[in-house]
Amino acid sequence: MPPAPKPEILAAFEAAKGFMPAGEGLALYAAAVEAGHLGLPLLEVGTYCGRSTILLADAAREAGVTVLTLDHHRGSEEQQPGWDYHDPQTVDPEVGLMDTLPTFRRTLHRAGLEEHVVALVGRSPQVSRIWGTPLGLVFIDGGHTDEHANGDYEGWAPHVAEGGLLVIHDVFPEPEDEFTGQAPYRVYLRALESGAFTEVSATDSLRVLRRTGTGI
Ligand SMILES: C[S@@+](CC[C@H](N)C(=O)[O-])C[C@H]1O[C@@H](n2cnc3c(N)ncnc32)[C@H](O)[C@@H]1O
Repeated sequence: MPPAPKPEILAAFEAAKGFMPAGEGLALYAAAVEAGHLGLPLLEVGTYCGRSTILLADAAREAGVTVLTLDHHRGSEEQQPGWDYHDPQTVDPEVGLMDTLPTFRRTLHRAGLEEHVVALVGRSPQVSRIWGTPLGLVFIDGGHTDEHANGDYEGWAPHVAEGGLLVIHDVFPEPEDEFTGQAPYRVYLRALESGAFTEVSATDSLRVLRRTGTGI
């Protein structure tokens, strides 16, 4: 049996605003538990309101490591007003832009996981350019354009330690199944073709790869 979060953690995940279905969440949790054994930080690109962060943080707590979760908190293209994934409650009325940071902080507080998570607020390429620490797991769930998905891969995959895991969300091999574009699928193929990563598991649109070679 793969490791599973406690019922109260699963309940907090299900109550949180966000996009990840439970089946993919359980696969993410199992990957995070495994990667936690490396004793290195786990990093998520794409915090949104903290739904997936809850599962990473619970696994990190068990392993005694820290989760880093990165987002500019202004939302992806498909989450902006007028698009299918827009939630008007995420708009800060004072500045007139999305701001998911307050909701994220409430989510983590309610789940009792604040002390296991460091929030990085900024743009993924800007943060990855100055990053220097090896990571046990990188979870890519940020922007879904080719520019952003490739930027996340190029910026963060190099930091996945030997034996560490690269997890990619929203991988849709069939164009008719895609709803926010196939850029994550192309990045998944790129990672496999690099020879640096080997597939470990596929759960719906979530792919878990392990670093088994060098480079990206
Ligand atoms: C699909 S949501 C993440 C969903 C979240 N993991 C969950 O489980 O609910 C994508 C997030 O990536 C963020 N994002 C998109 N492009 C980004 C970039 N270049 N740098 C930082 N964050 C980015 C958006 O603000 C958005 O909150």
